[in-house]
Amino acid sequence: MKSKKIKRSEFVFFYHKNGKTLDIQELLKGKIQQIESRKMLAFPVLNGEEIVVSDEEFEILKSISITEWVEFNENLGFTLEFLEKFASVGILLFDNGQEEFAQYIRKEDILNKSKWNIYAAFFHYLTKWSKVDVEMVTEDYEGDDNMDLYEQGMDNIIKKNGVPPTHFHKINSENRTMLPLEDLSDDTYYQTILKRKTSRIFNKNISVKLETLSTVLLYTFGCHGKYDMHKQLTLLHKTVPSGGSLHPTEAYILCLNVESLEPGIYHYNVEMHSLDLVKIYNAEEAKDFANKFVAGQHYVKDAGFLVLMTTRYFRNFWKYQQHTLAYKVTLLDTGHLSQMFYLNAAKENLGSFVTGAINTSLIEQELSLDGFTEGATLVVGCGIPLANESVNLLEPDFLKHEIVR
Ligand SMILES: Cc1cc2nc3c(=O)[nH]c(=O)nc-3n(C[C@H](O)[C@H](O)[C@H](O)COP(=O)(O)O)c2cc1C
Repeated sequence: MKSKKIKRSEFVFFYHKNGKTLDIQELLKGKIQQIESRKMLAFPVLNGEEIVVSDEEFEILKSISITEWVEFNENLGFTLEFLEKFASVGILLFDNGQEEFAQYIRKEDILNKSKWNIYAAFFHYLTKWSKVDVEMVTEDYEGDDNMDLYEQGMDNIIKKNGVPPTHFHKINSENRTMLPLEDLSDDTYYQTILKRKTSRIFNKNISVKLETLSTVLLYTFGCHGKYDMHKQLTLLHKTVPSGGSLHPTEAYILCLNVESLEPGIYHYNVEMHSLDLVKIYNAEEAKDFANKFVAGQHYVKDAGFLVLMTTRYFRNFWKYQQHTLAYKVTLLDTGHLSQMFYLNAAKENLGSFVTGAINTSLIEQELSLDGFTEGATLVVGCGIPLANESVNLLEPDFLKHEIVR
């Protein structure tokens, strides 16, 4: 006889949400009245979709072990229908050989093996997008005229949210030391840093040179030193710091318009400084994926290339097993890389951007990643900047700040 073992997933959060709902009794009497309501919600990390659970269902779910597999039979106090309802959304694990349920058993196993902290896993999967298309205010923006539209939009936000917190912050202090100001305007290092800005307007008629892509990758993601800390642990030295010196971030290049490189996705092989082909797209497909990866932000289509950053969580979690800070540190790592990418792009006279608004699940699907052992985290990109004289929200013209003395 086929096994029908069950248990409850360890990675499910239950919580109460207070709100208001129509009072049905009163409604039947023809009166519209709202009453306070409280509902129980369950969030299974394994499928990332919240569902409502009744008090009775919660009592039953609570009684099912998260550690011991038990053989299912109706004497357990619930029906097969109940079991299948919750096994199909990753709240219960049902080992009956059916793929619909087996996928969650595999995911639970990967989450455990890659040593995810339970709260980090919860946060991580709550913030995963798959098919989001943001409606950018910049989509129809062409010049001065629409600045009025933008201002109106901002007026509405301020009406709703109140005035924004001040842009400069001062503490109450009786003692202020003015710092010396040296003129470093001739120093090329500081000149490059000051060139850093977010670019969103590119010249799609000029390709990025392969040599330029190579330089940007080498000085952002490349390896410049090695140190054998133990016979089984080698640390790499890069231009960015990394939590635990583990460098778990990987770079996948989505090539749109680079000289002598077919549109498609490539993995940046750090050891050999090479691009290893993942998949080829035609030019239109590549642009379409670029756009979808960043949730419909249209400006990316004219870029030369994007870098889809992923994190090999298991590399970091190998050291910081289930640690409450481990996940946060992997995110901070990508911030350092993004800044280094901006600086190298500026040095190479490219315009660059970063975006956190990404369809994580779609990127993972295209890269054939399960998202648990290795998953998408951040996207940066660059291209040939297009000189643009008009006032434009895509690239605001910042005025020089004169330091107040
Ligand atoms: C973590 C992070 C996420 C960002 N996400 C987006 C984004 O989704 N879309 C976008 O157009 N810009 C995004 N930006 C860029 C900011 O809008 C930009 O840095 C800001 O407007 C300041 O402009 P500057 O970089 O030219 O100084 C992001 C920046 C950071 C640091």
